[in-house]
Amino acid sequence: MEVIRIALIGNLVWYPVSYVEDLDKSQPTRFTLLGQDIVLWWDKNEQMWRGFVDKCPHRLAPLSEGRINESGQLECPYHGWDFSGTGQCDRIPQQVEGGKAEVSGRACATTLATTVRQGLLFVYPGRVENAPHTIYE
Ligand code: FES
Repeated sequence: MEVIRIALIGNLVWYPVSYVEDLDKSQPTRFTLLGQDIVLWWDKNEQMWRGFVDKCPHRLAPLSEGRINESGQLECPYHGWDFSGTGQCDRIPQQVEGGKAEVSGRACATTLATTVRQGLLFVYPGRVENAPHTIYE
């Protein structure tokens, strides 16, 4: 049996949010963790589960109501912005030719650290950069 040791930074820990086998890789899944809406989705490009805060950086639409598009990116249901697994906005359909608004940090989705252990998807609700310091194998 795999043993996982965890450490606390602040009062945050990793939370198991779903059995992986219960998630659908073809569509985003909404989940509420500690009162915060998040969206879980399968990043086929990196072959890993992703967790984002469930708010589009454009107009705060719930990304969980979007879709995973043909490129394997999470697409917002309102205006179609596409997000890679790192939260980077890769496409703004309405943008005028030559525009580069997608490179702005304000166009990025807020990501959460995820890991799969023993068939469970865990999400760390704190700052992504703190996540590696809170789990040891
Ligand atoms: S609200 Fe998401 S693209 Fe506009």
